[in-house]
Amino acid sequence: MSVSSVVVTLLLKRVRLLCARGAGTGTGSSLTAAGCNRATELCDGGRLIQSRARSSWQRGNSTTVKLVQNGGDNKAVICIEGNIASGKTTCLEYFNKTGNIQVFTEPVHKWRNVRGHNPLALMYQDPERWGITLQTYVQLTMLDRHLSSISSPVRMMERSIFSAKYIFVENLFRSGKMPEVDYAVLSEWFDWITTNICIPVDLIVYLQTSPHTCHERLKQRCREEEKVIPLEYLVSIHQLYEDWLIKRTSFPLPAPVLVIPADHDLQKMLHKYEENREKILAASYH
Ligand SMILES: *[C@@H]1O[C@H](CO)[C@@H](O)[C@H](O)[C@H]1NC(C)=O
Ligand SMILES: *[C@@H]1O[C@H](CO)[C@@H](O)[C@H](O)[C@H]1NC(C)=O
Repeated sequence: MSVSSVVVTLLLKRVRLLCARGAGTGTGSSLTAAGCNRATELCDGGRLIQSRARSSWQRGNSTTVKLVQNGGDNKAVICIEGNIASGKTTCLEYFNKTGNIQVFTEPVHKWRNVRGHNPLALMYQDPERWGITLQTYVQLTMLDRHLSSISSPVRMMERSIFSAKYIFVENLFRSGKMPEVDYAVLSEWFDWITTNICIPVDLIVYLQTSPHTCHERLKQRCREEEKVIPLEYLVSIHQLYEDWLIKRTSFPLPAPVLVIPADHDLQKMLHKYEENREKILAASYH
């Protein structure tokens, strides 16, 4: 054993020890089966350990230490989840105006233009052919969103890498529009990412709507790709969200869930956000 590998071994042992202790103290959340356990993350102790861990991967060793980039910056992360046209944008805009929160919409402009191609439009035209193309890129761009550095103490995101997989990839596969091999490859990528990269989420805000409300709202607005979205699609997305966030029977939750009924009109919704403001921002007081 070389001197450097002894150093790495000792460091990793120390990290594990600290993590075992950290986990014992608890962070008040038991819902950490996916994403990143805050306790573990705090143990990683920044970039020094990070680079040690990486060099140990290169030797083919498996380690429990996750690659922590800006996910380890200890800022609060709130993800706004919900069906298409559930009012996520209104919610983000509301909180965007009220300071100290950095708001991230879904990077749709990237999905519409990757080096001159529009995988979003292609996916809507022919999901079986282009589903994996779009979803691979969605996964990358969402990961980038989760890890980007911010200056404010709170990060609020439209959806997450988790719903990209648990809702949208899952829907393509279950509806027979994604070949099993494509689903397997995407799942391998997702599992590798969530196993090896720390993606902390502190709160999920679920804007709960009926698919019919979303369908009505979609008719009113004019985003090009959305004109072809049928009601059945919204029903499937709704079911997947309900199974994940309400019934909790499908996939692990990366964070606690706050449910806000969101079938109301704009004015009432703004009022709801105001009402829930403290609860939502409480995620940043950990
Ligand atoms: C990885 O490193 C640990 C020490 O941190 C050691 O106990 C283990 O045997 C190594 N595993 C492999 C596959 O090299
Ligand atoms: C948030 O506010 C900034 C500054 O006013 C603005 O540039 C940005 O577009 C807003 N983002 C959203 C999602 O509303």
